[in-house]
Amino acid sequence: MASSTLLDNDSVSQEASARGDLRCLLESAVGVEIGVFGVSECVLPPTCSRSCVAASGGDRLAGACAVVRALAEHDEWLAGAAPSMCDQGHAIAVHCGPVSASLLLAPEVDGTERARFEAALSLWERCERLIFENDGLANELLRSFEQLNVMFDVTQQIGRVADAAGVKLVLMRKSAEALTCDWSCCLSPVDGVLWWSRDRQEDQSRTVEWIRDQYADALRSVEENRQILVRNAGESVEGPRDASLLFGPFGAEHGVTDLVVFGRRRGRPAFVAGDVMMMDAILGHGGHVISNLRLAERIRTMSFEAIRALVSAIDKKDEYTRGHSERVGFLARLIGKQMGLASTALQDLEWAGLLHDIGKIGVLDDVLRKPGKLTVEEFAAIKEHSRMGYDVVAPIQAFAGVREAVLYHHEVPDGSGYPEGLAGDEIPILARIVHVADTFDALTSSRSYREGFVLDKALSIMREEMGTRLDTAVTLAFFEAFDTFRAEQPGRYRQVFGHVKEAAEAEEDDG
Ligand SMILES: [Fe+2]
Ligand SMILES: [Fe+2]
Repeated sequence: MASSTLLDNDSVSQEASARGDLRCLLESAVGVEIGVFGVSECVLPPTCSRSCVAASGGDRLAGACAVVRALAEHDEWLAGAAPSMCDQGHAIAVHCGPVSASLLLAPEVDGTERARFEAALSLWERCERLIFENDGLANELLRSFEQLNVMFDVTQQIGRVADAAGVKLVLMRKSAEALTCDWSCCLSPVDGVLWWSRDRQEDQSRTVEWIRDQYADALRSVEENRQILVRNAGESVEGPRDASLLFGPFGAEHGVTDLVVFGRRRGRPAFVAGDVMMMDAILGHGGHVISNLRLAERIRTMSFEAIRALVSAIDKKDEYTRGHSERVGFLARLIGKQMGLASTALQDLEWAGLLHDIGKIGVLDDVLRKPGKLTVEEFAAIKEHSRMGYDVVAPIQAFAGVREAVLYHHEVPDGSGYPEGLAGDEIPILARIVHVADTFDALTSSRSYREGFVLDKALSIMREEMGTRLDTAVTLAFFEAFDTFRAEQPGRYRQVFGHVKEAAEAEEDDG
């Protein structure tokens, strides 16, 4: 990742600059010369350059004393050696820090100067330690910043995903990118194997099989102890598929733990402590998100079940309309899908279909169940159900997209419907869809005053009413979706529309 490279370069240059400042300070204050021999720089003390190094140009260490040579060539750092004389007669002290060695050198040292020299050494050592610690803190800060960035990015992306498997995929991809991995996989008892890889070279099934086969112990340990494990390339498993791996637990729901594995191909850098910290932070955050999502799903399902129970109680007020709302909800969703509506609109359609007649809860049973012709007053009372239904769902924020469909499900294209006599496109699309679904179910269901129409008759009535009582585009979409459903899912069709009679069945009944 680009920011990791930046972090490394920055820290090296900051450390070199801090050490350079300190060296100048000590040299002028104490009269000690200092050389630093490390991974980032190699500076000879001036006296070494002047008097220890014989040749200029070519081999710049030619003639240097053994101590300088050893340090400059990184062969052997003489850690912890007490100040002594080098073979050129200079007082020297060697300090080995975590990433570099330093040579403190005083050309001439008598009794008092020796004490200052040793004090300078101790000061240098302390400062080096501080520089190193400071560097570690800066790295940690930068890593935390990186983690925050990844979290922010993940949170933003997760907002656009509605299901747990989708969230896991986002987390796997973003984490793998943040950890500069080549691939990642999630082994989930619920969602199966989820896989992401940087390019197509990676063979998903072979890699997953290899992990399951070679790292069964690691997988078991992660699951049992819920800890992150590192298995760097070459540490325990040899072979052509050797890679560096990070294992971690991913959420735990009802005692089921998903296992996530991140991989870097052979030859890529090994995983270090910072990677483990990053993974821990991302998986912890991801686990909470997934748990919340599952909880929201459960609450949504429970609400749906509760509404269905309520609606079926209303349908039972009139035995002739039993199952009506369920079927209208089902058909409305089917039509919406045929028309290419978005998934949120489909969900609203299903709710709207279920709830469209909920206002009948406020209509007297005697009126609802009256077998004969309704009086004008009775019909007016029945017509109130769409407005009463709207009043029931309006305060519920989750039904914001459902309200209008409930209110206007008896409006018709020619403007002769109710409650407001809207016409054509003035009628919201969801209401037009619910109206078509409602009409089909009303035509094919038996009432106290008439038998339900056979399928062909119902469809032909609907065809005749296109453009006047029924929206043309919606009705055509209904015909298409209904035919497809009936042909492709005969079992389910019989389950939902078992009451709808075909022409032949009707003749048999008559016979
Ligand atoms: Fe209605
Ligand atoms: Fe209805």
